[in-house]
Amino acid sequence: MPNVFERIAAIGVVPVIAIENPAHAVPLADALLAGGLPIAEITFRTAAAAEVIARMAQERPALLVGAGTVLDRISLDIAIKSGAQFGLAPGFDAEIVDHAADAGFPFVPGIMTPSELSAAMRRGAQAVKFFPAGTIGGPEALKSIAAPFAHLGLKFIPTGGVSPGNLQDWLKVPGVAAVGGTWIAKTEDIRAQAWDKIAANARDAVAAINL
Ligand code: 3PG
Repeated sequence: MPNVFERIAAIGVVPVIAIENPAHAVPLADALLAGGLPIAEITFRTAAAAEVIARMAQERPALLVGAGTVLDRISLDIAIKSGAQFGLAPGFDAEIVDHAADAGFPFVPGIMTPSELSAAMRRGAQAVKFFPAGTIGGPEALKSIAAPFAHLGLKFIPTGGVSPGNLQDWLKVPGVAAVGGTWIAKTEDIRAQAWDKIAANARDAVAAINL
């Protein structure tokens, strides 16, 4: 059985989601699954996040459910208790990374500099989010930042400014395991219950990865 990081890499794209209504959890999971994208990063940017994670984890076990925007230990504990299979954060916080490691919970901290990358690596991170990827300088910036660490086998998930038009450029950067972004399941589309649109976005993203 591949580990979580291998499963994320095999899927190749992580929809970053801010969902407001727990009743939308299962239809959203079904839309992603229908689009061939069996993964969701449910961010702790809404009060519904924990309940959404719990419903997706319980009712749609085929979906790999992660908790995003995990900014404190309490959120991390809630994510684990809700059934999240991995967690992510936009930045690097040693306390949270250590707490996740103590709990045996796969965790992807965010980095944007070589110093943060070095710190994440020293704390045992196997994968990091490169955020905000577009603003930092695009694929060329990641290539330069990652080069001195390449021999260590760390994996990158660029997020922020990734789109169907540029995701192939990101995936070509050595070490990039997957990309992330909000374009697949936007909050307004979830609110409008636009499940066919979200499934189509997921399908297009999968097609773009496999070009
Ligand atoms: C994230 O949290 O990962 C970013 O907000 C995603 O950025 P995007 O909206 O540019 O995809």
